[in-house]
Amino acid sequence: MDLSDKKALITGSTRGIGRAIAEYLAKAGAFVVITGRDEERAQQVAKSISDKAIGVAMDLSDPDSIRSAYERIEKEVGPMDILINNAGITKDKLFIRMSLEDWEEVIKVNLTGTFLLTSLVVKGMLKKRWGRIINISSVVGFMGNVGQVNYSATKSALLGFTKSLAKELASRNITVNAIAPGFIETDMTAVLSEDLKKEYLKNIPLQRFGKPEDVAGVVAFLCSSMADYITGEVIHVNGGMF
Ligand code: NAI
Repeated sequence: MDLSDKKALITGSTRGIGRAIAEYLAKAGAFVVITGRDEERAQQVAKSISDKAIGVAMDLSDPDSIRSAYERIEKEVGPMDILINNAGITKDKLFIRMSLEDWEEVIKVNLTGTFLLTSLVVKGMLKKRWGRIINISSVVGFMGNVGQVNYSATKSALLGFTKSLAKELASRNITVNAIAPGFIETDMTAVLSEDLKKEYLKNIPLQRFGKPEDVAGVVAFLCSSMADYITGEVIHVNGGMF
């Protein structure tokens, strides 16, 4: 797998799945742009991953931050070939207690942020007539989950986003795919109670939770020439739970 002539931006890549994706793409030779809300942290992670990496603060809940960060990135390293829309947040609550604020906060980061950044990055891809966009959805976008009406709505919506955008961009050799991870061990799932984790484990045929690397390997594959003929697709990485 050789991505040495490619530049990749990964949102929310200071930890968890995003960081593992950045490590895998860097290992395949890509120049990687690490983004997160904290510039210093993003720069530290970039430094620890590769010489061919920079770290830039980009808050996906803030349109101005998205615009100014991407302008800076384009000025410093040029337009991106690969975009991984990974960052996502939860604000879990039973529907009956879910406020408009809980709803909007999750939509803003998971969906509107993804829309805004993609619309900036895609311009450079259209000029190059090459691009890879990968959106990180979730198994709960397919199965639903108690307490996650807001989150799972955004993860289902990312599929419509993926499939429609794939159709619009295919003639320019830009592929758009999604990955729907199951239960992956990161900070996001570390907050769940042991009882709940045991319950989830019962429904995973491969009898273990996933690791960030399980997702990162599939991302690397989708960015590589081995996946040149795959677009508008969703790949489930969930140990068989769906
Ligand atoms: P995490 O919570 O460990 O990492 C999320 C990343 O997003 C962090 O780097 C964080 O700084 C960043 N982020 C949060 N708010 C942001 C904002 N406003 N602007 C920019 N960056 C922001 O989560 P994890 O588990 O690594 O999740 C990554 C993606 O995978 C998310 O989209 C999540 O929904 C999805 N996912 C995770 C699963 C899991 O079991 N961990 C399962 C299915 C999907």
